Amino acid sequence: MYYNWREKTNTEELKVICNLIKNGELVIFPTETVYGIGANALDKDAVSKIFIAKGRPADNPLIVHIADKRDIEKYVREITPVEQKLIDTFMPGPFTLILPKKDIIPDIVSGGLDTIGIRMPSNVIARGIISFSGVPIAAPSANVSGRPSGTSIEDIRKELEGRVSAIIDGGETEIGLESTVVKVIHEIPVILRPGKITDKDIIDAVGIAKYDNKIFEKVTEEQIVESPGMKYKHYAPNTKCKMVYCEDELDQIFYINRYIRQYKGDVALLSFDEHREKIVVSDSRFISLGSKNNLEEIARNIYSALRKADSINAEVILIEGVKREGIGIAIMNRLLRAAGYDILEK
Ligand code: TXA
Ligand code: MG
Repeated sequence: MYYNWREKTNTEELKVICNLIKNGELVIFPTETVYGIGANALDKDAVSKIFIAKGRPADNPLIVHIADKRDIEKYVREITPVEQKLIDTFMPGPFTLILPKKDIIPDIVSGGLDTIGIRMPSNVIARGIISFSGVPIAAPSANVSGRPSGTSIEDIRKELEGRVSAIIDGGETEIGLESTVVKVIHEIPVILRPGKITDKDIIDAVGIAKYDNKIFEKVTEEQIVESPGMKYKHYAPNTKCKMVYCEDELDQIFYINRYIRQYKGDVALLSFDEHREKIVVSDSRFISLGSKNNLEEIARNIYSALRKADSINAEVILIEGVKREGIGIAIMNRLLRAAGYDILEK
């Protein structure tokens, strides 16, 4: 069933949705980052339906969503002072903290690990569903495993309608990129997945933070990683993609134009408004991520733009990169993974 809550939450329908969750069904709901496919995190049969609906590898753990910070201690064994400070500073918000799990959370949620990711969304619809259901909600991004995350309801309906019991439309997501995932290792907050909350934000809060060095590397399934999500193909269109990034913008445009002129087949381009007139590609092959100077806008558009570029069925999608600063770090992480780390040769 499809529920339109763009304008406001419907309380009668909210009861129906919470009953579905309590009865072990799957519900797609908006958060401030991306849409999630939610199920009762305490019910292993309900959670197993998520893995089936997404075609997700069983060892890739899910994030547990809560609506009240006081609930964290019900699901985790220990919280250190640094972790508590991170909770106090960044929750609710686009932030996930990895903590040691209690047995009440079934192993299927954590993909067999003895930790779980805890996240308290700020989105009002998400919070309403979690608190009225009265259970924590396990929710990965709303997309088939390996595909771009769901941020627009039209894309999500095309991909997942029929695989879940309810889809709640809360409009376009505000941030457009998944939460920053952090694990405190030897008292240092390590960012396992970059997001809107950056290393600088965490340093401001607790004095220290670092990015996991696998964030910008291609990781194979055999490698040992802190976060299983790093190993798998992610955010990827079906069309082959190539990343182009140069410090100098004119160089970047030069290499793109040279590639398009030399390549024999059909090329689509994921670019910026300002580059429309500068690149030798037809309007139908030009998809804009927004203004090159507005990283927040680019973040919001990234997944719908990747899907749109894919729907052209070109032979190659060239993806223009951005400077790795602020949310640009997270944008580049997603774009590089979409491109399978295939970088245009200069
Ligand atoms: O913004 C978000 O985080 C969205 C919304 C729906 O809340 N959720 C989301 O979930 O992006 P998902 O499942 O698509 O990504 C969760 C990531 C994966 O890369 C996973 O490997 C990592 O978090 N993760 C989850 N639990 C973990 C754990 N215990 N240890 C290390 N990494 C973990
Ligand atoms: Mg995901």
